[in-house]
Amino acid sequence: MEKILIVDDEAFIRENLERILSEDGYRPFSTASGEEAVRQVGEEEVDLVLLDLNLGATSGLDVLAALKEVDPDVLVIIITGYGTVESAVEALKMGAYDYIKKPFKADAIRLIVRLALETQSLRREVRHLRREGKGLPESVDMVGSSPALLQVYRQVREVAKHETATVLITGESGTGKELVARAIHDLSPRKGRPFVEINCGSLPFNLLESELFGHERGAFTDAKTRKNGLFEEASGGTVFLDEIGEMDMGLQVKLLRVLEDRKIRRLGGTRNIDINVRVVSATNRNLKDAIDAKEFREDLYYRLNVFPIQLPPLRERREDIPPLLDYFIKRFSREFNKRIREVSRDALDLLIRYHWPGNVRELRNVVERICIMHNVEVITPDCLPKEIWGDAPRREADFSFEIPPEGIHLEDFVGQIEKDLIGKAFSITGGNVAKTARILNVPRGTLRYKLEKYHLV
Ligand SMILES: Nc1ncnc2c1ncn2[C@@H]1O[C@H](COP(=O)(O)OP(=O)(O)OP(=O)(O)O)[C@@H](O)[C@H]1O
Ligand SMILES: [Mg+2]
Repeated sequence: MEKILIVDDEAFIRENLERILSEDGYRPFSTASGEEAVRQVGEEEVDLVLLDLNLGATSGLDVLAALKEVDPDVLVIIITGYGTVESAVEALKMGAYDYIKKPFKADAIRLIVRLALETQSLRREVRHLRREGKGLPESVDMVGSSPALLQVYRQVREVAKHETATVLITGESGTGKELVARAIHDLSPRKGRPFVEINCGSLPFNLLESELFGHERGAFTDAKTRKNGLFEEASGGTVFLDEIGEMDMGLQVKLLRVLEDRKIRRLGGTRNIDINVRVVSATNRNLKDAIDAKEFREDLYYRLNVFPIQLPPLRERREDIPPLLDYFIKRFSREFNKRIREVSRDALDLLIRYHWPGNVRELRNVVERICIMHNVEVITPDCLPKEIWGDAPRREADFSFEIPPEGIHLEDFVGQIEKDLIGKAFSITGGNVAKTARILNVPRGTLRYKLEKYHLV
């Protein structure tokens, strides 16, 4: 139950807020005095403070400053009366989370409090994870600390411990599936043993089969010598089956049997050989669809998918774009002996807005190309390839709609457009309400209302 401290000199407001918030399952308590509030926050963990800017003799801004001093991470929502909106803006600059105007509606309070607490718990989680680091070894060069990626790091650490657990990594091309597979291996007790990878989409059936399971001499025309398969080569280590979704159906049956029995037989051989490997597979296909299309065996899917890890596309975690840019700029700048230091504000906007169909690989390639072709200190928009310009909003809206003979429903129609635009803006800013409101030029309260209305949060 989150603790919420209400600081207001009007008893009526305190009681009203306490009632609303306790109805919602929070633990509110209140005081009329700023000093008392600062003392409370200094002494115990308070999740949120609702602070009136006009506390009789004391200025709410001074109280805010004192609160931030005792706990820099304290979350504060300002309550303002008439004529204090400018101070409210001042308060935002000083680190208040948001403000709400008096008189307020109970629903507005509920919403603002809920969003603030969600932000708070996310912030705490991120801080916690930062403190313990990614928890991945130095050798694992994974960059980014979006909530989605922090979740992936956590899963990697967890599954690495269970050294025989089978892992299926899914995600669009270039999202880092191979990087994750290697991280699992490097973090596991199998580190130091082989990590053997094979691309199941790149070889025809026969070749892939003999690569995986090996063959005896004379097993087929070209088999001049005996050859161990990858499952044997990887003994004690990890086998990484990349693009598993492309594997031939016939081979899928054999792989299923290997996973069930933990034994293989070389082609042309008569003896079963015990194997000790962890199998990690990856795919950018939706295997459920492949199953429906009868191109992937359902039983094999369940065998492989014991521990699923999903890598979200870059456009769904745009906050990872700036650190990835930094990382690759440093790397390629050094490699090509350039002195590129940073990205200009305009260029960064374009890069963040771009939809990155090729994900991190594409971003890496873009930076590499810039480092080869340009001799600048700051990357400006004209250094960027033209596809990245393509996603920039057009200066003039090119909305032109036909009205069909049966007519349209104006409100629904406009509502749909509004919803699309807000959704787009929200994803560009990585879900930051204040920034979204700024780029859409609407008050934050309005935006919040619309986010709820269109179920975008
Ligand atoms: N979080 C990250 N931090 C740093 N580099 C990354 C990250 N994610 C991906 N990369 C880099 O992007 C490139 C593509 O990653 P990777 O090969 O792991 O993708 P993939 O998901 O296996 O792609 P595909 O499905 O096309 O095989 C690699 O150079 C990798 O090092
Ligand atoms: Mg790959």
